[in-house]
Amino acid sequence: MRLLMGTKSKWRLWLSAIFLLAVICELEAKIETTSTTKKPKLGRTTIKRQRVETDRAKIKPTAAAQTKTSLTQVVGRGLFKKVGETLSVQTGDTLSLRCRGKPVQWSVPPNVEEDEDEGRLMIIQQEKFSSLTLVNTTVADTGEYTCYPMYCEDKDCRRVYNKAVKVFIFFPDPRELFVPSSNHYEMIQLRRNWPAVLPCQVTSPEAKVTLHREFPPGEVPVDGTEISFNNRKGFTIHRPQLHHAGVMQCVALLGNLRQSSTKYILIYVNYPIAPPAPVIKASSSSVTVGDNLRVTCAAAGERDVLIEFNWEYPGQQIGRPLYTEETRIPVSGDASQLQFQSVLQVDEVRDVDQGTYTCTAQNLQGAKSVSTTVKVLPKAKAKKESRSDGRSQ
Ligand SMILES: *[C@@H]1O[C@H](CO)[C@@H](O)[C@H](O)[C@H]1NC(C)=O
Repeated sequence: MRLLMGTKSKWRLWLSAIFLLAVICELEAKIETTSTTKKPKLGRTTIKRQRVETDRAKIKPTAAAQTKTSLTQVVGRGLFKKVGETLSVQTGDTLSLRCRGKPVQWSVPPNVEEDEDEGRLMIIQQEKFSSLTLVNTTVADTGEYTCYPMYCEDKDCRRVYNKAVKVFIFFPDPRELFVPSSNHYEMIQLRRNWPAVLPCQVTSPEAKVTLHREFPPGEVPVDGTEISFNNRKGFTIHRPQLHHAGVMQCVALLGNLRQSSTKYILIYVNYPIAPPAPVIKASSSSVTVGDNLRVTCAAAGERDVLIEFNWEYPGQQIGRPLYTEETRIPVSGDASQLQFQSVLQVDEVRDVDQGTYTCTAQNLQGAKSVSTTVKVLPKAKAKKESRSDGRSQ
């Protein structure tokens, strides 16, 4: 029973968050009609395919893997250039990379991976190196290209992660400053102490990028500490707070061109640090039939973190309707805290109300139950009557 109620109320906590989100979307859709840049759909999904990373720790470097892996760019016939951390290749041009080692494996940005069947990407393992060729490149090919040396035992090969070499490749296009997204909006959940990333990816390392809030409209200061920018990643909000919530957009400036990214809807979710720690107390541990009983369950919590209470009580089985009264009391001296309280009211106590009262307090981190027992004393005068009443129910 308790489990059932627990699940239900967790849903309710989530539903309220989703409702808020829906309201923001609605609002956004209205604002949208006046907004400008529409990006072409490239069929690029935001769900990145996760490569299976197996047993990193277990891999022992072999002689083959110990030869230093290195990446070079083929810039012409027989002309090679060692690549650094980043590289820019004009869109439309062919990207040609070589990775020394045998065998090696490549990982490419999701958009390129999806194109594997369309013949734009070609990977050929030669005697001493592997070559990667990507033709008809577009801005959407921007991202990280990694070459992993492989450790093989018979036909079972694994990547040697700590020997991987990677390069971030920009594909600048004079008309597209951001890698287009197929989504017009992207939801980003903000949680306290969890860095949040607005993944607006520029296609050119030269673009100057700023962060803008849609309402009230204005530029968001990027100081490098609270919020920082990296042209290979986007903006990071290091310690999200409630005031960061809202709709944000990246704006890139290059030459005479100024473009906006996809919109990011930042939702602040109050995640409590821990499950609540409720305390239960009955107005009296023994009550006389006909008197009133109040059982109080209280838990301290953070101001914006909802705590839900569920009750189990002896009269429940026979459907005795009790009611609860929930209050939130400010904690003096600490504005960030509240005392959440639920009071179960038992009017005109009957025999069936004797027993264990259990209160479960729940927030998004979990639930905790506490119990107390209450004894029902017969009325001094009508002792026998009251007992038979109780039994007949
Ligand atoms: C690359 O583009 C050219 C010209 O548009 C086209 O003819 C060719 O088929 C494309 N190649 C691939 C592999 O998509």
